[in-house]
Amino acid sequence: MTVLDVRDLEVHYGHRRQRRRALAGASLSIDAGEIVGLIGETGSGKSTFARAALGLVRPSAGRIVIDGEDVTGHRERQWRAVRRRGVVQYVFQDPLRSLDPDLTIGDSLMEPLLLKGVPRREAVDRARAYLGRVRLDDELLTRLPEQLSGGQRQRVAVARALITEPRLIILDEPVSALDAATRVQVLEILKDLRTAGIALLFISHDLGSVAGIADRVAVLYRGEVVEVGTAREVVTKPSHPYTRLLIGSAPTLRTAAAGRAERAALRELLHSGKGTPR
Ligand SMILES: Nc1ncnc2c1ncn2[C@@H]1O[C@H](COP(=O)(O)OP(=O)(O)O)[C@@H](O)[C@H]1O
Ligand SMILES: [Mg+2]
Repeated sequence: MTVLDVRDLEVHYGHRRQRRRALAGASLSIDAGEIVGLIGETGSGKSTFARAALGLVRPSAGRIVIDGEDVTGHRERQWRAVRRRGVVQYVFQDPLRSLDPDLTIGDSLMEPLLLKGVPRREAVDRARAYLGRVRLDDELLTRLPEQLSGGQRQRVAVARALITEPRLIILDEPVSALDAATRVQVLEILKDLRTAGIALLFISHDLGSVAGIADRVAVLYRGEVVEVGTAREVVTKPSHPYTRLLIGSAPTLRTAAAGRAERAALRELLHSGKGTPR
């Protein structure tokens, strides 16, 4: 079952002489329960892809189907309905952008449930349960985002994305702003989602961050998906010249300065059967 199907997607920014093409016919599909890494250099169009799939920018061409619903031409009101149903959720790089700074953690977690019409009492229970799932203590429920560490905030953002039991979560550089130890914790939590059957689109500029967790990796280059394969295939047998360049220059893959967790993830990837198609 395909949860996200994006075909020949084009997105432009600006008008007239300022008009620039950020996506130039990108295609990618994600199955239920699958974790797909989308990698590419800064400016390649990764965030634009995420925004288009969340209804935050309008495509100028192509097609986006989410969980069987063609959302390509959706207007704001229709997108609001899609979001209210909680089919697709998101986590951004900066958790302060995914969380309302004026809401307590508890209220932030309950908000998407209350929008969906879940009774308040049940929403409170679910908020506690999901905080536990991202390994955070109940006592954080009454705090504001600014009273949490960056890693705690990002785990709350993940809990908030999970709480509506969406079909798809789009994570745009979810660990890029975190220190190495916290990054490992958040990656562990995301790995667990595989068993929960939720599809993940995990966006990163860094192949090392996604290699250990993604079933498939897609490479975005100048607004086009130029390569898709299992993480293992992409690392060991890149077919596009840009992918070869990306792998050759990926600091976390090649240098001795690479973080231990990332090196371990890569070793696991290269020397195990992981990454075989499902
Ligand atoms: N709001 C915007 N207005 C105009 N141009 C934008 C906007 N957002 C992104 N761009 C441009 O679109 C291209 C792709 O950007 P983006 O999707 O943010 O790439 P990435 O996330 O891979 O770094 C870049 O050239 C960027 O400058
Ligand atoms: Mg980006």
